[in-house]
Amino acid sequence: MWDDLRRAGTAARERRILDLFSHDERRATDFSARALGLLFDYSKTSITAEDRNALIELAKAAGVPARREAMFAGAKINETEGRAVLHSALRNLSGDPVLVDGQDVMPGVLDTLARMRAFARALRSGTFTGQGGAITDVVNIGIGGSDLGPVMAHAALTPYCDGPRCHFVSNVDGAHVHDVLAGLDPTTTLVIVASKTFSTIETMTNAETARAWMAASLREPGRQFAALSSNLEATADWGIDPSRVFGFEDWVGGRYSIWGPIGLSLMLAIGPERFRDFLSGAEAMDRHFRDAPLAENLPVLLALVGLWHHQVLGHPTRAVLPYEQRLLRLPAYLQQLEMESNGKRVAMDGSDLTLPSGPIVWGEPGTNGQHAFYQLIHQGTQVVPCEFLIGAEGHEPDQAHQHRLLIANCLAQSKALMRGRTLAEARAMLAAKGLSGAALERQARHRVFPGNRPSVTLAYPKLTPAVLGQIVALYEHRVFVEGTILGINSYDQWGVELGKELALALAPLLEGAVAGPDIDGSTRALLEYAGAGQTRAADGDQ
Ligand code: F6P
Repeated sequence: MWDDLRRAGTAARERRILDLFSHDERRATDFSARALGLLFDYSKTSITAEDRNALIELAKAAGVPARREAMFAGAKINETEGRAVLHSALRNLSGDPVLVDGQDVMPGVLDTLARMRAFARALRSGTFTGQGGAITDVVNIGIGGSDLGPVMAHAALTPYCDGPRCHFVSNVDGAHVHDVLAGLDPTTTLVIVASKTFSTIETMTNAETARAWMAASLREPGRQFAALSSNLEATADWGIDPSRVFGFEDWVGGRYSIWGPIGLSLMLAIGPERFRDFLSGAEAMDRHFRDAPLAENLPVLLALVGLWHHQVLGHPTRAVLPYEQRLLRLPAYLQQLEMESNGKRVAMDGSDLTLPSGPIVWGEPGTNGQHAFYQLIHQGTQVVPCEFLIGAEGHEPDQAHQHRLLIANCLAQSKALMRGRTLAEARAMLAAKGLSGAALERQARHRVFPGNRPSVTLAYPKLTPAVLGQIVALYEHRVFVEGTILGINSYDQWGVELGKELALALAPLLEGAVAGPDIDGSTRALLEYAGAGQTRAADGDQ
């Protein structure tokens, strides 16, 4: 099957995307899909109807439909950790039973959601207060999935934020917690310690710093702490009152956890009703993913186009380019979602992957990226498949002209990438400016755009909580489909462990412990250099 696709890829390299449009006036319609008000356009790629059929057959042969049902039904598809993968249960607002080991998890999910709602209402209405009055600021301390989801969604939904101000601390670099706390009043601040394991060194260190900051002003700092975790024993040991602990189960992966307790800061900011809209958008995408035929199924199509570009055509990266300033953290969020999920080197059974695993994902909002790295996307020697996102409507009606300009820029980029500019066109353009002869020839080639560069566009009506829920769930399921076809376990992350272990071993050396013989020369030299900096800092010699 992959051999057929490779052959199809070889043929595709010879093809001009523009020609596909001139040979088929229905291409834009036939190579796009609509669902839930979203439009996914993949017509500006080299995919033909035969290629699409082959990709869909691949998805079927890989057992995507059956594994999808197994995931929603609570089967332990995260085999290396022996866990179910049920972030969908967190947004299963219907409450229909979902069984794990024969137990319905929904009563627990809905109970926690109700507790979060009650807490959010109390805090937002001023019934739950800090020791200096109503809570004005919330600091979410977490990292990875316990940070990026809330950070991304909070920025995305700024127009809907009418609760306390929310701040996010993630980095173990003390500068982060310092700079966030510096502007806050401890008597009216709530600190949320967000960690699935409640053992992540960055989060626990920052939480200790925040506790000391609060203890310097308050007699009962613990009253202004809440915890979000699946490790209830550790939250109790840390001294957080169970009434402010919101637990979740190990079948929620960190990078898939925004829908439950890890979303508490978002719920505090936008209110429980809008948070429910966010969940219901994702729930609608779950239904679409389960019910729509593969050829019209947005997550399936998004995954297949991704496989076409990376595994079939060999383009190593994928740029995510939201033309929506408030989605500025979406690329970072997707980096974790996609690269921590599908950046693996072995298949589920431990055998070496025979195909490249997931691509490098990167990006920035447009139009900013246009003035930074689009040069390479248009004229560099590597092809970068682009994923544009654009909303039909903005939130600033008095700036509709700016929104029109934003949309025009987005559409212009995908068009320019596909169309390019030939040498003849470049020459004609320069001639029209009065150049001729050698001067014209010297300039012309610099103004050629090869074109034929692929992109897809996801268009949505307006970035509301429900639409954001749809988009995030769409990307989650895309990762699932890609991972299933590649035979990867998308739900573990062993690749982050080694660095964590070594950091724990190296930290004491910076406090004067003697290095063992297993330390390499480079690390030793860097330790000596940085260790000297530590000594200077301790001596106050800065
Ligand atoms: O180190 C990676 C990771 O385990 C991520 O998968 C996770 O989102 C992050 O660390 C934070 O983990 P926790 O929520 O347990 O603190």
